[in-house]
Amino acid sequence: MRPRVFVSAPLPGTAVDQVGGVADVVVGSPGVGVEGEELASVAADVEGLLALLTDKIDAALLARLPRLRIVANMAVGFDNVDLDACRARGVVVTNTPGVLTEATADFAFGLLLAAARRVVEGDRMVRDGRFEGWRPTTLLGAKVHGAILGLVGLGRIGQAMARRARGFGMRVVYTQPRRAHADVERALGARWLPLDDLFAAAEIVSLHCPLTPATRGMVDAARLARMRPGAVLVNTARGPIVDEAALVAALTKGPLAAAALDVFAGEGARSVTIAPELLALPNVVFAPHAASAETDTREEMAETAARNLVVFFSGGAPPNALA
Ligand code: GLV
Repeated sequence: MRPRVFVSAPLPGTAVDQVGGVADVVVGSPGVGVEGEELASVAADVEGLLALLTDKIDAALLARLPRLRIVANMAVGFDNVDLDACRARGVVVTNTPGVLTEATADFAFGLLLAAARRVVEGDRMVRDGRFEGWRPTTLLGAKVHGAILGLVGLGRIGQAMARRARGFGMRVVYTQPRRAHADVERALGARWLPLDDLFAAAEIVSLHCPLTPATRGMVDAARLARMRPGAVLVNTARGPIVDEAALVAALTKGPLAAAALDVFAGEGARSVTIAPELLALPNVVFAPHAASAETDTREEMAETAARNLVVFFSGGAPPNALA
């Protein structure tokens, strides 16, 4: 008997066909995923899930899927999956590391430039007919070249940011609980700092850490208050790492000059809630969780998740199993 696999939503590329080579596939609806009728109708038989980061894979869901053996999450982050609950039931969990590193760093660097140099404010000014000619003081922004870039997390994406930063002549400092190997630091020209010191030293801070109990709410009022006057914050990691109310205050009263946000605390499977006070700020560049949204990258993410399912159901060890 072929196993039954639920794929949360239609996917780019050949991923669904690949899974179809080893399993009977049911595809869910976009924006609904594991919460929808499609999964409910086959839940008793499902042995594999290809989940999106918007799917909450928790003990309650696992209890509804008694035959589940593997969750292949189509994301590098896996804070949407309760790993302990999966382990307790012997359910294997995989993610998609590596394939989205460069696309994510490209986008994060783009947001960094856009926020620091006020690119989106300028776009609005021109569109609204408020550009009345070159003025010496119009839309003065923060320096990028030569600035001190603080990377919170020096994993794959943090390192890709450091490589880009070198091209801009930036000085790179980073923080993470365990210091990177000296060879990595040397190759990237990156200097380790304790978390609080990094927030005080950097002119631009970019977040590249996972969402964990330790990082939830890490960028709070106290840390924001330590930042340099005119500093810029970029978040392409996960929304709940930043206290959004504190961020609004820091962008309104200082010390921050600008921020760029690709992720939000209120991102749910079906909808996203963002405080009107945050949305109203002109000095924030917003993006819709799009850092990996590059055609090839999204196909590779989907196909990596599919490969993990195919290998698993062919009797092998999935390449991206999480410990
Ligand atoms: C995107 O946010 C991912 O974790 O892959």
